[in-house]
Amino acid sequence: MRITIAGTGYVGLVTGVALAEIGHEVICYDIDDEKVNRLKEGISPIYEPGIDQLLVKNQLNNRLSFSSDCSEVYSTPDIIMIAVGTPEKEDGSANLSYVYQVAKDISKYLNTQQAIVVTKSTVPVGTNRKVKQWIEEEIDFHSKIHIVSNPEFLREGSALYDTFHGDRIVIGSEDEEAATKMEELYSPLNIPIIHTDIESAEMIKYASNAFLATKISFINEIANICEKVGANIEDVSKGIGMDQRIGSKFLQAGIGYGGSCFPKDTKALVQLAGDVKHRFHLLEAVINVNNNQPLLLLKKARNYVGSFKDVKVAVLGLAFKPNTDDIRESAALVVLKHLLNEGAQVNVYDPIAIANARKVLGNTVTYYETIEAAIKDTEIVFIVTEWKQVKEFPLRNYLDLMKTPIVIDGRNCYEVKEAAALNMTYSSIGRESVTAAKIEIK
Ligand code: UDX
Repeated sequence: MRITIAGTGYVGLVTGVALAEIGHEVICYDIDDEKVNRLKEGISPIYEPGIDQLLVKNQLNNRLSFSSDCSEVYSTPDIIMIAVGTPEKEDGSANLSYVYQVAKDISKYLNTQQAIVVTKSTVPVGTNRKVKQWIEEEIDFHSKIHIVSNPEFLREGSALYDTFHGDRIVIGSEDEEAATKMEELYSPLNIPIIHTDIESAEMIKYASNAFLATKISFINEIANICEKVGANIEDVSKGIGMDQRIGSKFLQAGIGYGGSCFPKDTKALVQLAGDVKHRFHLLEAVINVNNNQPLLLLKKARNYVGSFKDVKVAVLGLAFKPNTDDIRESAALVVLKHLLNEGAQVNVYDPIAIANARKVLGNTVTYYETIEAAIKDTEIVFIVTEWKQVKEFPLRNYLDLMKTPIVIDGRNCYEVKEAAALNMTYSSIGRESVTAAKIEIK
């Protein structure tokens, strides 16, 4: 099939590459000329395992191309997929202006009797119908538009894997022919398909992300209580996760969820519920717990140093999770904001997110490419992202390299027992804290 994909961000690019790989002819469109030129040269704008290889391979076999000319890309495809960004507006709702622009461009340049327009971007319930209306109100000649809601569930860092091995594909459509065509499109992937109406498909995406965010805030709250009652969150997570009705995934307590999806989508769903006069109390609480979680880490550190003024601090990890260079809504940014406001001198380490961090943090912090260099002579270390490099970094080295080894671990990367044996100060999430004999508590 001939597919046009609007938007070469995470969703658009990964989908484009994957559909080309399974045999379709794909054109990816983006308004950003520079990005398109780099993609033509095989350079991916995102860090994603496996993408570079497939990008080059499928361009060479002519199944994948890139363009910034909307008159060309929208004229005669079998399917148009909308995968542009839906950033958060100030009130928490989704900004649909990029989606609107694509709809308007389609209406201007579409030159076929009928077309299937698929929304992959996460959009509020009701948006797909608006897209149809936006296209139809300006279309030049009588052309039939079939709208399909086909949300994606890919995770950054394993986006290609998720596209090829997803748990399900959701197809929300009211036209049987369009739904069948979508099934054909994805058939080489052999992933279970669920057919729904358009609104349910739109809701599945928000409800999935909200549910996963709820699991994280729930386990973080349990962890916060565990600390106070002397229980261990690792054992508690394991114990509840073995109940198959609950499941063991997304029960890793930590500094809270970040990234481009959960924070934005949870707020958008609260907003969406509010629009229909339903107050989503549960999700509001999930968001509050998440906002508070990084602050608890700072509070733990204050127990040892009182104030951060002129304290030498290292923050390990800037990305919102391992295996990505994405720092959007990363808990690291919250921790850093507070540390800097309170006058700390901050070193940061991240294996791949430093370039992105520099754009946001400028020279307010000192950047290091090794953990050793970042923690040398510091008084406190905050572990924010559970990078493999951090998990494999010997705990003993903190003792050797830091001025006063106080480690505040927001991702439970180490065993409490080991810290206790080393007589260092170590505080993590939902587990007992240990204090070195020589550290004075203010
Ligand atoms: C998420 C969804 O998983 C994906 O289906 C959706 O399409 C987009 O949003 P992503 O943002 O890439 O994907 O990251 P994910 O791996 O889900 O992690 C999100 C955040 O939750 C990270 O900050 C992570 O550290 C945190 N998390 C995840 C936890 O704190 N504990 C967990 O147990 C799991």
